[in-house]
Amino acid sequence: MKKATVRTFKEAKETGEKLTMITCYDYSTAKLVDKSGIDSILIGDSLGMTMLGYEDTLSVTLEDMIHHSSAVARGAKHPLIICDMPFLTYSTGIRDSVMNAGRLISEGHAHAVKLEGGTEVKDVIKAIVDAKIPVCAHIGLTPQSVNAFGGFRVQGKDEATVAKLFADAKAVEEAGAFAVVLECVPAALAKKLTEMLSIPTIGIGAGVDCDGQVLVYQDMLGMFDDFVPKFVHQFAHIGEAMVQGFKDYNDAVKDGSFPTKEHEFTMDERLLEDK
Ligand code: KIV
Ligand code: NA
Repeated sequence: MKKATVRTFKEAKETGEKLTMITCYDYSTAKLVDKSGIDSILIGDSLGMTMLGYEDTLSVTLEDMIHHSSAVARGAKHPLIICDMPFLTYSTGIRDSVMNAGRLISEGHAHAVKLEGGTEVKDVIKAIVDAKIPVCAHIGLTPQSVNAFGGFRVQGKDEATVAKLFADAKAVEEAGAFAVVLECVPAALAKKLTEMLSIPTIGIGAGVDCDGQVLVYQDMLGMFDDFVPKFVHQFAHIGEAMVQGFKDYNDAVKDGSFPTKEHEFTMDERLLEDK
């Protein structure tokens, strides 16, 4: 299997080969993703919800991201590893932003970082790219702006947000981003943006015409059934399989059918004679 790099992204835009990205937050899952041929892993700040049980991504810290990213990097050897910059780690000045991005590389062992926003983060993206850290941009529905937006909603449904998306897409390309995630953008608009840009677009809820796709792995493996977003397809039903496994284990211990002889260690039982 070939190791993916930012060049893989560049080449895919030229050849039209679709790019794949999946979130991942830990070592053992990273080892499994590594065998799949998926091009890139995103340590998303969605880990705030999927791994830590927060309501949104705003409580996630740089230390959380470093902790999870380094675990992923130990498990995945082929995909390009991209780590999200969490809330408030790239909005307090250029120097802070470059230093924080740098820690995700030097301590989190990611190959690239991702951050949310368009025109307003243009200078930040450029400075991080100038520091030789590849940046993936993220526009459209940007969850770190939930309070500023007043909720989560599809972007690009009215004249103002359509214009904003075109401006944002141009800005991140000009700033030197190697790719851009389009989250919850109408398919027709995502198609136009994809045609306009020379860098690959990676869609999530942005239709089939993006240059690639990204999904949260618990969503696409069917690990949480309480809420399935419109843009998710469940490629497996691992949640059910896990619950069944836990139940079977519980039952087997309770009824004495586990463990059996084959799970035991033996010894010279004469050692126990006068005990
Ligand atoms: O945090 C995340 O998982 C993401 C993807 C949904 C793109 O940013
Ligand atoms: Na994210």
